[in-house]
Amino acid sequence: MKPIGMLMWEHRLIEQVIGLFPREIAKIGKSKRVDTVFIQVAVDFIRTYADLTHHGKEEDILFRILESHGLSPELHKIMEGLINDHVYARNLVKGLVEANEKYISGENTLSVIVNRLQYLADFYPAHIEKEDKHFFHQSMRYLDASEQEEMLGEFKDFDRRMIHEKYKEVVERLAGGKVSWTPPGMVR
Ligand SMILES: [Fe+2]
Ligand SMILES: [Fe+2]
Repeated sequence: MKPIGMLMWEHRLIEQVIGLFPREIAKIGKSKRVDTVFIQVAVDFIRTYADLTHHGKEEDILFRILESHGLSPELHKIMEGLINDHVYARNLVKGLVEANEKYISGENTLSVIVNRLQYLADFYPAHIEKEDKHFFHQSMRYLDASEQEEMLGEFKDFDRRMIHEKYKEVVERLAGGKVSWTPPGMVR
């Protein structure tokens, strides 16, 4: 598998979650109530999977390595746009989390929640299409087979660390503070 194959495979799962948003928006419109657990679970998916794990591999590995290979001005411009997209998505999710927390504490933030869900539902398919059709394949021309193989290895290592980081954070939340622990076989 090419490294971009792994990223495109991940896109397919992200699409499935974002694809649930129009139905959720319609449900909120009809019931005038927000399923705050749906929002919490969806946010956890976006933050942990779509952002930390997926955008993380794109930014920390793919984009970093491509940057050192001197991309064409056109491709570089697309890459900058993708990085800005990631920032935009993070802000949308932050707004969604805040609105959901306010809703839970009794404030009527229903319209903000609907708005953020709609923006995310619009954003992700367009962002994914940009990468799938206009960036990933084009960018692989800058790497030979062994560099692609090495990148795939870095991706797998990145994913392996992620589960530990995610659950270390969960433990810290439960404990109410930092815990001193390093994942097995990893020196940090
Ligand atoms: Fe991306
Ligand atoms: Fe992506």
